[in-house]
Amino acid sequence: MTSESGRTVADAPYVDWDARAAAFDDEPDHGLRDPEVREAWSDRLRTWLPEDPADLLDLGCGTGSMSLLAAGQGHRVTAVDLSPAMVERARAKLAGHDAVVLRGQAADPPVGERRFDVILVRHVLWTLPDPARVLRRWRDLLRPGGRFVLVEGVWGTLHPVGLSAGRLTALLEPLTAAPRVERLSGDPRLWGKDVDDERYVVIATV
Ligand SMILES: C[S@@+](CC[C@H](N)C(=O)[O-])C[C@H]1O[C@@H](n2cnc3c(N)ncnc32)[C@H](O)[C@@H]1O
Repeated sequence: MTSESGRTVADAPYVDWDARAAAFDDEPDHGLRDPEVREAWSDRLRTWLPEDPADLLDLGCGTGSMSLLAAGQGHRVTAVDLSPAMVERARAKLAGHDAVVLRGQAADPPVGERRFDVILVRHVLWTLPDPARVLRRWRDLLRPGGRFVLVEGVWGTLHPVGLSAGRLTALLEPLTAAPRVERLSGDPRLWGKDVDDERYVVIATV
């Protein structure tokens, strides 16, 4: 599948996430070990999430860094990842918090009849086949008034891959009210460095 963003899932390289898990948190925006980077994400997340404690579903949670921030802000977290090694790390990171980590498909999470106030997804949707279908499935997991918080981007300049904000908002428009895009490329604190590719979050309420 090709979009105006360049290349998307058909071109997404196969990634062995189990093999990547041990070093995943070494990237500043993955592990959030640097207090300045962690604070930058924490400050943004606080503005993206409801003020009151909410039921939050983090899909493709990786090692659980975003889930941990959300749990620290008082939200009840359910996190899902396909990679056993990622799940193991996320469980360790979230131990002692109001959080459960499940192994399963992000596109069809193993949550039964449960419904959520927030679906948080960072850097995963662009890799999933048929994002329009996936978003419809996710919409059905949200309670009325619930919201998507989707952090995505288009990476690289020579052979860019990812999902542009324009494409994602077009996919969300039939499902949500007025998706709002917040650009993230201009804030080096989030990435631990300057970046010049397209990085953004879309917040959209159903
Ligand atoms: C780029 S990492 C992002 C991790 C996390 N969201 C973050 O921002 O730190 C992608 C994650 O998605 C997971 N993943 C990839 N495809 C998946 C799928 N189909 N279902 C569930 N998890 C998936 C990988 O195992 C990996 O942990």
